[in-house]
Amino acid sequence: MVQIAVDGPAGSGKSTIAKKIAEYLNITYIDTGAMYRALTYKVLVNNVDVQDEDAIIKLARESDIKFFQGDIYLDNNIVNEEIRLPEVNKNVSYVAKIPQVRKILIGIQKKAASNRDVVMDGRDIGTHVLTNANLKIFLTATVEQRSRRRYEELKNKGLDVNFDDVKRDIINRDKIDRERKFSPLAKADDAIVIDTTDLSVADVINKIIPLLGEG
Ligand code: DC
Repeated sequence: MVQIAVDGPAGSGKSTIAKKIAEYLNITYIDTGAMYRALTYKVLVNNVDVQDEDAIIKLARESDIKFFQGDIYLDNNIVNEEIRLPEVNKNVSYVAKIPQVRKILIGIQKKAASNRDVVMDGRDIGTHVLTNANLKIFLTATVEQRSRRRYEELKNKGLDVNFDDVKRDIINRDKIDRERKFSPLAKADDAIVIDTTDLSVADVINKIIPLLGEG
C-alpha cells in the first residue's frame, strides 16, 4: 500500500503538489483542509457563532462531510466554490482548533484512507492521520511568498482581494493552526522538509519523485 502525507502552512503549495503526486501514481487524493472548510461554511450558513464550540461540535456530528474524486461534499451537496470564500478563510482556523471537531474529522479521514493507496494533504496528516505513511513531506515557504500565491489564486477567481488582507489572514491562520493544543500544524519527526519559496511546481515534483520508491 502507498500512503503519502503532505503537510505545511497555508499557501505552501500542499494541495497543488499532493494532487500532482496522486496523478503521477494514479491513486486517490484527499484534501483534508476542504473538510474543515466545509464544516466552517456550514457554521456560517447556519449563523452559528465561531466561538460557540458546543454548537459547532453538534453540527460536526450531524454533518456528512466527504472528499470524493476531487469534490468536497457537505450533506451530499458539492461545495467546491463556497469553501474558498474569504469568510471561510477567516474563520476556518477557529473551527479547526476545537479538539472534538478534529477527532470527528480525523476519524472520517482515517476511515477514508484505510486499506487504500492515498495522498492526503493537511496540517496533521503525518502526525495524527497517516502516522505510518510511506512518505511524509512537509512543505514550507516564506510568509511573503505564501501570501502572494493565495492572493493570485483569489484574484484569478475574480474575487476583489487586497494583498495585505490576504497576508494578515495567512499569518493569523498559521498562528492558530500552530498553537492549538490538539493535533497542531507540525512536522512529523520523520517528514522530509521542502522549502518551496523559490521552486516551481515542477521543481518540487522533481524533488519528490525520487523519494517515492523509498517507502
Ligand atoms: O489547507 P487549507 O488552507 O484548505 O486548510 C484550511 C484550514 O483547515 C487551515 O487553516 C487549518 C485547517 N486544517 C487543519 O486544521 N487540519 C488539517 N488536516 C487540514 C486543514
